[in-house]
Amino acid sequence: MTARVAVGIIGAGPSGLLLAQLLARRGISSRVLERSSREHVEGRVRAGVLEQPTVDTLHAAGVGERLAREGIVHHGIELRFAGAAQRIDFSALVPGRNITVYGQREVVRDLIATRLGDAAAGPEHLCFEVSDVEVAGLGDDQPVLSFTHAGRRQQLGCDWVVGCDGYHGVSRHWFPAQMSQAFEHVFPFAWLGVLAAVAPSTEELIYARHERGFALHSMRSPELSRFYLQVPADEDLASWSDARIWQELRTRLETVPGWRLESGPILEKGLAAMRSFVHEPMRYRRLLLAGDAAHIVPATGAKGLNLAVADVRLLGAALADWYERGSATGLDEYSAACLQRVWRVQQFSCWMTRLLHVLPTDDAFERRLQVAQLEAIAQSQAAATMLAENYVGLPPPGPSS
Ligand code: FAD
Ligand code: DHB
Repeated sequence: MTARVAVGIIGAGPSGLLLAQLLARRGISSRVLERSSREHVEGRVRAGVLEQPTVDTLHAAGVGERLAREGIVHHGIELRFAGAAQRIDFSALVPGRNITVYGQREVVRDLIATRLGDAAAGPEHLCFEVSDVEVAGLGDDQPVLSFTHAGRRQQLGCDWVVGCDGYHGVSRHWFPAQMSQAFEHVFPFAWLGVLAAVAPSTEELIYARHERGFALHSMRSPELSRFYLQVPADEDLASWSDARIWQELRTRLETVPGWRLESGPILEKGLAAMRSFVHEPMRYRRLLLAGDAAHIVPATGAKGLNLAVADVRLLGAALADWYERGSATGLDEYSAACLQRVWRVQQFSCWMTRLLHVLPTDDAFERRLQVAQLEAIAQSQAAATMLAENYVGLPPPGPSS
């Protein structure tokens, strides 16, 4: 006999885990099928900036306790360029709105601990090390997932299947070709991300535009700093010794008189491509997409994780409406509502990326324009407000907004 669940979820990143948690709180059963091991999923560093609506959603999902204790609320960021520093003051520009620095790794750990502690969720509601996930029955609105877990091929009948399996996942490819449109832009550079055991040299994040390329000073805690360096798209990680990383960070960040960067042991380093991607639509019959499975934004505005949470918040409410009130409205509107936000965030993330990175193809004219744009932000409250409004996050989507 085929096992059944209300919602089958592919992927245990932030999207899949949060959706399972929101559904569980409404009494809706789900099963999460994750390809990697728990250790691998919990070990990925990735993003670190949470918008207020993201923080609110995590609290509403019952996973905000450690976040409230350990998250660091920030009321501004700094832009560094042409030897000057400019603070973007959220309290003045967008009163009452701010961001919280709390690592994606911690969000994922909190969610996994909560999901695994949910005794009411039934056996195996969160499965790691699952392989070869396939779907059948989408055309008849009777989806059945097949997958291999613990050496056994299994079937799972679902009312709904949600692809939360990230950019490299399979679920997006289950849309019929004529129902699927992809928009993509790959930037000609990557980010070298570094986690270091050293106290941050700054209280707020520093986004630096330098002639040698972009650099970002972020953080995870009073003892842990996070950095990013713009590097060529085909960069070899092996060519970046710890000493070279610190040297390059100092060159790009120590541009303001008297400011010094503290260095310390590097705990982790990795490369991330800079890419924009949108898949339209985000629903085909009983298959829905959420998070990176449907869209990727370049990381400069710190939006990827926040966008994933915005999708899931809408989807959790839409599924609850369907189960509790028999209303299909939220599910019918899901794709269009998400995509409207996705394109707004895509626009902001691409704009921030072009503002702060030096493209290999940029000539001297382009470089002057870039600095002029940064000066406009420093001098015009309207320009700074536009940045601040987008950075702290667009207002949260309502169930049928
Ligand atoms: P993911 O986190 O990608 O989770 C998808 C999950 O699905 C994974 O656990 C994967 O193992 C699983 N999966 C994939 N295929 C299958 C399959 N066939 N079967 C079962 N499971 C499968 N955002 C920022 O804002 N700032 C950053 O600095 C930043 N850095 C990043 C660095 C990297 C290398 C990457 C890849 C992303 C980064 N992001 C960053 C983006 C942010 O991390 C993502 O937006 C966020 O992780 C999206 O969550 P998700 O759950 O939708 O997807
Ligand atoms: C971090 C990542 C980002 O993409 C960003 O814009 C700011 C901070 C981070 O990982 O801390």
